[in-house]
Amino acid sequence: MLWGGRFESLPTEAMRRLNDSFAFDRRLYATDIEASIAYARALARIGLIACEELLQITAGLEQVRAEFDAGTFRAQPDDEDIHTAIERRLAELIGPLAGKLHTGRSRNDQVTTDLRLYLLDEMDALKPRLAELQLTLIEKAEASLDIIMPGYTHLQPAQPVLFSHWLMSYFWKFQRDQQRLAQIASRVAVLPLGAGALAGHPFGLDRRALAVELGFSAVAENSMDAVSDRDYAVEFLAWAALLQVHLSNLAEDLIVWASHEFGFVEIAEAYSSGSSLMPQKKNPDSLELIRGKTGRVIGHLTGLLITLKALPSTYNKDLQEDKEATFDVIDTLHLELPVITGVIRTLKVNAARMAEALDDALLATDLCDYLVRKGVPFRQSHYWVGQVVRRAAQQGVSLRELPLVEYQAVHPAFADDLTTVLDFQRSVAARDTEGGTAPSALRAQIERARELMIQTNSNH
Ligand code: ARG
Repeated sequence: MLWGGRFESLPTEAMRRLNDSFAFDRRLYATDIEASIAYARALARIGLIACEELLQITAGLEQVRAEFDAGTFRAQPDDEDIHTAIERRLAELIGPLAGKLHTGRSRNDQVTTDLRLYLLDEMDALKPRLAELQLTLIEKAEASLDIIMPGYTHLQPAQPVLFSHWLMSYFWKFQRDQQRLAQIASRVAVLPLGAGALAGHPFGLDRRALAVELGFSAVAENSMDAVSDRDYAVEFLAWAALLQVHLSNLAEDLIVWASHEFGFVEIAEAYSSGSSLMPQKKNPDSLELIRGKTGRVIGHLTGLLITLKALPSTYNKDLQEDKEATFDVIDTLHLELPVITGVIRTLKVNAARMAEALDDALLATDLCDYLVRKGVPFRQSHYWVGQVVRRAAQQGVSLRELPLVEYQAVHPAFADDLTTVLDFQRSVAARDTEGGTAPSALRAQIERARELMIQTNSNH
């Protein structure tokens, strides 16, 4: 035990179970060892350990790492956390010299250094997975440029849009997620090590050199802040929660459109499941699971915030709660991102069903715009077209079936060029201002998206 000196009795079994974090923080082994090797070098630079000792400590730590890598590391009952386990094993390998490694260091600055390093690696690993999803959206959008569908607000038919436009609407949400991830990284990459338990290092450790060696871009300015700061974990969880909301929205759209009633898309069998009772069923389980994970991801964010809320200054053991939340969110995203990417890649788009769903009422706004072009102020044209829609409904006909005389009875500006407006292709093509749903605007949008992807993936 690392702290047994002043104790007369041992913790109870129940206390151990509550206290021990090794079962989940063992995944920090590689970063813990990396940080310890760098710390040992920093101690050697200020003469606290000799060159020969440094070699022994480093070799010992590498052996411990090899044991973890190979799955042969044997945990002992007293290994309460990963730091304890590694130090205990190091002592078995190199003897009492292992005890010099912790000079000036506390698990308080050690654990948060490890978590930051680990998180930086995982953020790096999540980035290309998200980029893969973005690229898949772009490719699908490029391949679907001729497909028109009803666009919805309030889940009620609104205006015709390109299916590609919908796909790209998610690209931009994920692009902002990429930006946010990059911005968070600068605050994760701050070195706490050298803060000690809370008061700082008493032996003149060169923290700047240590930061550079470990790939941190700055040194925590205040040792009391350094051991208590979990803002970076909260920021990561908040980032993930928002990304998760985007994934959930995407999943929800597809679930609705894959329903029998819509039939706009078909989810590949590889991402669906059947029913144990009803032989005909093919359910979009992949998407439901992704939508369902949103609860746990948001839950981890609120959970950690609540853990932090009433803490007194500096390190408190409550902070041990940071890890399971962070790990679970990382794991969840690694599970989901390849699946949603696969769903999009293999998605069958039923263009014919989308075309059938194009109701003339979706063109009502185009009729308003028609009157506007004839000089009628928009607010009035909105009213007149409302009257037209009402007449068509009363007569049980569509806007295209309603005779011109009926239009003219509502407003004299309606003329026989009206038919050119009552056209879905034209409606879509008319929205060619930047950001609109016209094919030309969409090609420009896709091009910008591609450029951005090249930029975000190169400047790292
Ligand atoms: N397992 C602990 C954690 O995750 C390590 C730090 C323990 N520090 C302490 N003073 N007991 O936070």
